[in-house]
Order: sequence, then structure tokens, then C-alpha cells
Amino acid sequence: MSETLDRVRPYIRKHFQARDKHEFVPGKTKIPLIIPSYGADEVEEALESMLSTWVTMGKKVKRFEEMFAEYLGSKHAVMVNSGSSANLLTLSVLTNPLLQDRIMPRTEIITPAVTWATTVYPIANVGCTPVLVDVNPETMNIEPEEVKKAIDPQTSAIMPVHLLGCPCEVDELVKVASDRNLYLLSGTWALSASSCPTTSPQ
Ligand SMILES: Cc1ncc(COP(=O)(O)O)c(C=O)c1O
Repeated sequence: MSETLDRVRPYIRKHFQARDKHEFVPGKTKIPLIIPSYGADEVEEALESMLSTWVTMGKKVKRFEEMFAEYLGSKHAVMVNSGSSANLLTLSVLTNPLLQDRIMPRTEIITPAVTWATTVYPIANVGCTPVLVDVNPETMNIEPEEVKKAIDPQTSAIMPVHLLGCPCEVDELVKVASDRNLYLLSGTWALSASSCPTTSPQ
């Protein structure tokens, strides 16, 4: 542990204590979209890495991947540098010619009309065609009925987005995808946001 970090630690704590006056109540407290939600713990971890000069993949990334996989109840989790890279990595893996049952180039992938550019670009990057469908005006999330209407013989996957961290109608989308043997790839924006107008956490 760095002596330098030990010296600045009290100042970092004080800095965040002065800012974070409100108690955080899970499921109730709203997390503002445009204000980063990190605090002293994260700043100390980041500083520790920077002071150590080990800033690429290492113990911390591995620990994060293991904890995240456990949190999701999944076998594996892979950390990448951004949401955009996560989308591109997912699609690159699923279109890889070495994969049996891969997503074929020139097939269609259904995604919501309200999303971020890097949900749509990676679909084109891997040689597929994005098909945009309308969202529910209340939740701003993809509408399963619209997905059903957009499915045709060229469709290979559905790529919903849990916009602002609010979950889509996952059960319904899983059903639509599995009934038609399509891949379902979820993109999430602001994973931890809690101010959802509808639906319970999935
Ligand atoms: C739905 C969605 N996917 C991907 C991204 C891109 O994330 P990043 O900025 O981490 O590349 C965003 C960014 O806001 C997003 O809203």
C-alpha cells in the first residue's frame, strides 16, 4: 500500500463527505444521470493503480470480472474499456466464422430506435443490417410487439437496450427470441440507474 495514498486518503474522504450528504436508499434514491456516482472508494482504488503504475489488466480487473459474474449468476464476465467496445466484442464473437450457429453477415439485427450510436454501428461493422423498431413512449424501451412485427426470415438477433438502466420486458423478449431461435443480446446504458418508471429489476 502506498504511503502517498495513505497521506491523501483523509482528504479524499473529507472531500466526498462534504458532497454526499444524503443517505442512499436502494430502490428509492434517484441517481442523476449526468453526475458520476463514484465516491472516495473508487478514487482511492484509481489512485492506488495510478501510483503503482500498473494501469492495464491485472488483479483488480480479474477481481472485478469474478465479482461481476457472481453478481449476475453467470459463469464468466469480461471487462472491456467501454460500452461501445462491449457491443462490438459481443457481435464480433457471435459473427466469428469459428462459431457454430454464428450470426451470418447480411442478416438483420433488431434494435430500438431510441439508443446510442454504438448500439447501431457495431451491427454494421460486422456486416449485418440494423433494423430499428419503435420504443414504448413511457419506458423508452424496445416494444416486444414491434419486435415481433419486424422479424422476418433475414432476422438473426434482437439487441434490446436497457435504456438509462431501466430493464426492458426481458421475459417477453426471451420468449420471442427463443420461439424463433434468435440471439438476444442486451446492451445496457447506466447499469446502476434506479429511477425506472416501470418494471421490476430483472
Ligand atoms: C445504450 C448505450 N450503449 C453504449 C453506449 C456507449 O458506452 P461508452 O460511452 O462506454 O462507449 C452508450 C453511451 O451512452 C449507450 O447509451
